[in-house]
Amino acid sequence: MKFLLVTDLDNTLVGDDEATQIFNQRLQSMRSQICLVYATGRSQASTGELIAQKQLLAPDYLIAGVGSEIYRDGTQDLDWAQYLSQNWDKMAIASLAQQFKQLKPQPPQAQNPWKSSYCLEPAAENSSIVQALQQKLTASGLAGQIIFSSNRDVDILPKTSNKGNALTYLQKRLQIPSELTLVCGDSGNDISMFEQDVRGVIVANSKSELLAWHRECGSKNHYLAASACAWGIMEGMAYFGEF
Ligand code: GLC
Ligand code: MG
Repeated sequence: MKFLLVTDLDNTLVGDDEATQIFNQRLQSMRSQICLVYATGRSQASTGELIAQKQLLAPDYLIAGVGSEIYRDGTQDLDWAQYLSQNWDKMAIASLAQQFKQLKPQPPQAQNPWKSSYCLEPAAENSSIVQALQQKLTASGLAGQIIFSSNRDVDILPKTSNKGNALTYLQKRLQIPSELTLVCGDSGNDISMFEQDVRGVIVANSKSELLAWHRECGSKNHYLAASACAWGIMEGMAYFGEF
């Protein structure tokens, strides 16, 4: 039975080049025993660029666009796409978001049929803007969810989506149990992974929203590393006895 390792990229696997390189070497030596999944907010194309630039190992699966897309060997999982399309009305979501002038749409490359993404300028009142957006979304009855990361990025996805739901879908499909699954992340769009019945490593350089989640909801399944980026992943894997 393989071990399922699901890791975020930016500021988790990537962020400290020396750590990424050492971690890659260690992963490579146990590659055949691991099902490697990258779970990122990036698109498939942008992930491909990062993999080339940082010489990352080729993953077995890619969860892209905050869980809005799943790929295996460059091919999109159409069952997942079809599942997310049920009750999802992206146009209605976009017109609801347009009512908030502080929300600036992210570039077209960051959008896909199951992901509507916006940016907020850094400001103290951002969480109340997101709260107001959440209230409108709930009142509208649209089957969407808001993911807020880094006090800046606002992703609106189908309720059925997000990184955590995508990883659980893969875990079931691969029939890998929770005790053989480890997730790693640093920011708000990773919280849904830590909410699944899996063990998780929160790297030391994590954003305040993930650290706050850990303080309020963390359990013995969640390890807050003392070191940053891929050093933190290695520390966490050693803690859970996987290295
Ligand atoms: C990545 C994506 C962006 C998203 C952010 C947070 O930066 O490119 O679209 O908003 O992650 O999930
Ligand atoms: Mg990240």
